[in-house]
Amino acid sequence: MAQRCSKRRCVTFGVGCPADPHAPPIFIIPTGPFERIDLPSRGAGRPGRSPMSTLENLQSQILAAVAEASDEAALEAVRVAALGKKGSISALLATLGKMSPEERKTEGAAINLAKTVVSDALAARRDILKNAALDARLASETIDVTLPLRETPAEQGRIHPLSQVMDELTTIFADMGFAIAEGPDIETDDYNFTKLNFPEGHPAREMHDTFYFNPKPDGSRLLLRTHTSPVQVRTMLSQKPPIRVICPGRTYRSDSDQTHTPMFHQVEGLVIDKGSHLGHLKWILHEFCKAFFEVDNINMRFRPSFFPFTEPSLEVDIQCRRDKGEIRFGEGEDWLEILGCGMVHPNVLTACGIDPEVYQGFAWGMGIDRIAMLKYGMSDLRQLFEGDVRFLNHYGFKPLDVPTLAGGLSNP
Ligand code: DAH
Repeated sequence: MAQRCSKRRCVTFGVGCPADPHAPPIFIIPTGPFERIDLPSRGAGRPGRSPMSTLENLQSQILAAVAEASDEAALEAVRVAALGKKGSISALLATLGKMSPEERKTEGAAINLAKTVVSDALAARRDILKNAALDARLASETIDVTLPLRETPAEQGRIHPLSQVMDELTTIFADMGFAIAEGPDIETDDYNFTKLNFPEGHPAREMHDTFYFNPKPDGSRLLLRTHTSPVQVRTMLSQKPPIRVICPGRTYRSDSDQTHTPMFHQVEGLVIDKGSHLGHLKWILHEFCKAFFEVDNINMRFRPSFFPFTEPSLEVDIQCRRDKGEIRFGEGEDWLEILGCGMVHPNVLTACGIDPEVYQGFAWGMGIDRIAMLKYGMSDLRQLFEGDVRFLNHYGFKPLDVPTLAGGLSNP
C-alpha cells in the first residue's frame, strides 16, 4: 500500500520521512501531486499529455522537493525517491530498453538530462545544507571567553610557603653553580657534633637542645640532627674538592615558643677550594639576599661570632626598617640577623679527609623558616606547621607558578 508522509507536498516517499517519523520506510509510487505522472513505459499517459511534459513535470516536482529539503536527511530521501534503485527517474531510465531506437534517442537524452539536472540540484542543495549545518554548529558552539573558568583540580591545591622558599633558594644557588646535597634527619653524634669540632663534653654541645634516641648497646646514641651542618661532613667525606653545595632540610631542637618550633628548616652552604676566601662568601650572600628578597638595595653587616666548626666565625645581619607592619630592606635603623657563617675550621677539614694545607673553604647556615617569614610577612613561626588550610590559602602559592630567575621568584 502506498503511504506517504502526512506533510503536504512532501516527496519523501520510499523512506521514512524525517518530517513524519511515524511513516514506515517503504517505497511507494507517488500519489497526490505525483498522480499526474505517467510513466512512458506503461503508456499510461493521460490523453493530451506528452511523455516529455510528464518528464518536465516530474523534474520540476523533484527540484521543488530538493529546494524544500530542510536538512541532509530530507535531501537524501528526495535523492533516493528520484535516483535510487526504485526512484522515479530510475524507473523512467528502466523503460528505455523497451523503446524503439528512435524513441530511445529522444526520450533517453531527455531522461538523462533530467537525471543530470536533478543530480546537480541535489549536489548544490547538499552543499548549502552542509554549510548551514556547519554555521549552526559554529553559532551554537561559540565559547564565551568572558565566562570565568573554574580552577582545575591541579590549580586548587597550594604550595606551602616553605616549599616555595626552598624552591626559590635552590633556584638562586643553582644559578650560581651550586649542587644540592641532602642527608638523613637521623644522624650520628659523630657527624652532627664530633667531626664538626664539637669536642666531647664541650659546652658548645649544649648550644643545641638535642633530641637523642635511646643509647645502643655500645653506648652510642643516634639523634635528630640539630642543624644541616652534618651534610657538610657527609659531602666532604664523599666528594673531592672543589666542592660547592647547598644542603636544605629539616632540623630539630627541643625548643618551642613563638619563634622556635621543635622542627624547623635550615639551608647550609659549603664551598671548598684552593683559593676560596671570605670575600667570595660575602659576594655570594649579598647576591643571594638581593635575589631572594627581590630588592637591589641590600645592606649587610658581618659581626664576629663563634661556631666550633668555623674560624673565623661571623653572623650576618641585614639592614631594614619596620614600617606599619612591613619590612623595608636597605634602609632604617634595624638590623635583622639572618645567618651564621665562617671559614671552615681546619679541624673539620682534617676530620673529613681534606688537607687544610691545600684546601680552604667557607660555609654558612641559614634558617629557612626565618627568611620565609621575613619575606612573606608571617608573624608566628608555629603557623607554618599547624596545617591550617586558611593559612595555606592565604600564604600558599599556586602549584603551577614555579619560581624562576627569568620569570620571577615570587610572582611568576
Ligand atoms: N649550624 C649552625 C646552627 O645551626 C649554623 C651555621 C653557622 C652553619 C655557621 C654554618 C656556619 O655552616 O658556617 O646554628
